[in-house]
Amino acid sequence: MKYDFDKVYDRKSALSSKWSVEEIFGRDDVLPLWVADMDFRVPEPVLSAIRERLDHPIFGYTMVSPSFYDSVIQRLDSKYGWKVDKEWIVITPGVMPAVNAAVLAFTGPGDKVVLQSPVYPPFWTAITHNKRELAVNPLKLSDTRFEIDFEDFKAKFDEGGARAFILCSPHNPGGRVWTRDELITMGETVIGAGGVVISDEIHCELVMKGHSHIPFASISEEFAMNSVICFAPSKTFNIPGFHTSVTIIPNETRRRRFNEARGRLMGAPGIFGLIAAEAAFRYGDDWLEQVLEYIEGNINYAIDFLNNNVPEIRSMRPEATYLIWLDCRGLGLDQDALRRFFIEEARVGLNDGVTFGPEGTGFMRLNVACPRSILEEALVRIENAVKARRGR
Ligand SMILES: Cc1ncc(COP(=O)(O)O)c(C=O)c1O
Repeated sequence: MKYDFDKVYDRKSALSSKWSVEEIFGRDDVLPLWVADMDFRVPEPVLSAIRERLDHPIFGYTMVSPSFYDSVIQRLDSKYGWKVDKEWIVITPGVMPAVNAAVLAFTGPGDKVVLQSPVYPPFWTAITHNKRELAVNPLKLSDTRFEIDFEDFKAKFDEGGARAFILCSPHNPGGRVWTRDELITMGETVIGAGGVVISDEIHCELVMKGHSHIPFASISEEFAMNSVICFAPSKTFNIPGFHTSVTIIPNETRRRRFNEARGRLMGAPGIFGLIAAEAAFRYGDDWLEQVLEYIEGNINYAIDFLNNNVPEIRSMRPEATYLIWLDCRGLGLDQDALRRFFIEEARVGLNDGVTFGPEGTGFMRLNVACPRSILEEALVRIENAVKARRGR
């Protein structure tokens, strides 16, 4: 089936968080290109599977079907050659609940947990709200690409005594797809120091041409035994509202500890999340190929537009994700003024870079998973607002 991603849907009336711009940005004329969901319809097989289940009029607590587990196992094998046992799979109501449960299960109060700033804001609170201590390994910006400061990373474990690392793979923001060598160096450091890797791989299927994702636990038996992999259909197939993710824990002892935390904190899986996820994993690839093509077109369009018309803003080309990390330091505004500039002058709702950590100061995050017409309008608004400033 051919999908039309140019089609604009009214998402406001569907209570989309992304489109609730008055609540988020304080005015109703802001175009939202922030939170990581797409303005695209979902794959037809997902809709069909849900419609079919609606014919049965009772929605009680549900079991997880063997075919759900099979769909996860087959997907990870066919995409990455990673052989996963059914026993390793734990169903969770989202990646961040799983990351929080893993922090609670594998570290103690006051333990140091490493993250790489700038990073998805809830990583910070997964450490601080659980009364663990932050150990920040800032990413190095080399031109418009993030690199890892391995010396600092090693010091966090070898001298700093960190107990765990929350890896964002691919990384958000910036969209780096970590290479095998990078993953191995990080893994050997953490595991060599007796720590655990909590690997958030939620964006792993949104990888652009020329790059390949490697599941952290697929690298070696030792990596598998000392890691937790958080995987989900939510970003890939645009179904985050179903709150369903899959946490893969090959180590039995760790899995038991994780399940204790999960049992305390989370309920049973939701019926529709399981149905949507299985349909997407099994039959969503036709849609995924088309959406990736469209997104790559949008990424190219946005980067070319900004390079040609707004040289004050430099774009980091994402290797994965539909999120472009914008270096806005050329505008010469402090963070508060920068945030106000985008909302009040450009009337475009982006993510404020500093919410990803102090290294995000001077940056904003742009979500291009929207119809091209919306992206064009947003970019023209930015261009006009910058022009108006230049004239002052
Ligand atoms: C890196 C990363 N992890 C987790 C999430 C959220 O996952 P969930 O809604 O399953 O908790 C996001 C959403 O943008 C994300 O970018």
